[in-house]
Amino acid sequence: MPILRDRRSAPSRPVIDRNTVQAAIVICYRNGEFLPRASATVSVEDRGFIFGDGVYEVWRVINGRLFETDRHLARLENGLRELRIDAPDILRAEVLNEIAERVLSESGLSEGEAALYLEVTRGAAPRAHAFPAAGTAPTVFVMANRITPADALRERGAAAIAMPDIRWLRCDIKTIQLLPNVLAKQAAVERGATEAILIRDGVVTEGSHANVLGVFGGVLRTHPLNNLILPGITRGLVLELARSLGIMVEERAFSEQELFEADELFIAGTTTDVMPIVRVNDRVIGAGVPGEVTKRLSREYRALMDESVAAERDVVTRSG
Ligand code: PDD
Repeated sequence: MPILRDRRSAPSRPVIDRNTVQAAIVICYRNGEFLPRASATVSVEDRGFIFGDGVYEVWRVINGRLFETDRHLARLENGLRELRIDAPDILRAEVLNEIAERVLSESGLSEGEAALYLEVTRGAAPRAHAFPAAGTAPTVFVMANRITPADALRERGAAAIAMPDIRWLRCDIKTIQLLPNVLAKQAAVERGATEAILIRDGVVTEGSHANVLGVFGGVLRTHPLNNLILPGITRGLVLELARSLGIMVEERAFSEQELFEADELFIAGTTTDVMPIVRVNDRVIGAGVPGEVTKRLSREYRALMDESVAAERDVVTRSG
């Protein structure tokens, strides 16, 4: 597979036939190369494929700028350390930004809303459970996808289902082993819902792909950070916003029963933003419409994202 020519000596964008979006060339990054996603491959012996032995991150991208680069990188670094996978160069923000910029621009995603996906696995080696020989290079993969924020749904509020949380006991690590999350989300979809809210030992942990927060008597409550939930970047930012707006915050789990008694409920995640939940298992939550605290946090969160990427753009424009 020929590597795309250097962008300094060639037009930076592949020709994209606007009438056949399916046929558009989408460029990804794999182990030092930029190549069309359709022809990018990894070894069948990759430990990500064989064991789910890897971690990933997803950044929100607005007009070509990554939102909260460093917080996601810090979580990724933590996951790699926990799994004892050597940290690749892409953990440096300037390396990530350079790769992201090229993947985004050559995929036609420098404007509007997108998500950047980065996966790091323990690399390819003959199948054996124990770690491979020292020096086995991790596999690093980056791709970007267009996303369309679900703003109409946000206006009326989404439905969720409650399900047992059958995941392992290190949900704080963002591993690529997502089978329980996949099954939970599929169950939600089959019941016409947006998210599955996971229950462990009678307590709400989080959703299949977002954190879960509730408002009880004006207090914003969510599961505390521990091994049972992912430390969501959106969760953290929403809690900071709430505190700055004078909303009381309690990082204390609520029970499945309390879930149905919440005044307001919402989920929060990188591709979800703040999404009000107005029904769970066909039972109405609160007034059955997005609540005032949720709507306020949703507005403030959107403003925070827009301001943050605009500020970054200003810095880049001024310096270059
Ligand atoms: N999901 N909890 C789980 C289980 C998640 O998978 C995610 C993110 C979150 C929210 O984390 P953050 O705010 O950092 O995105 C919580 C990503 C987006 C995904 O799998 O696509």
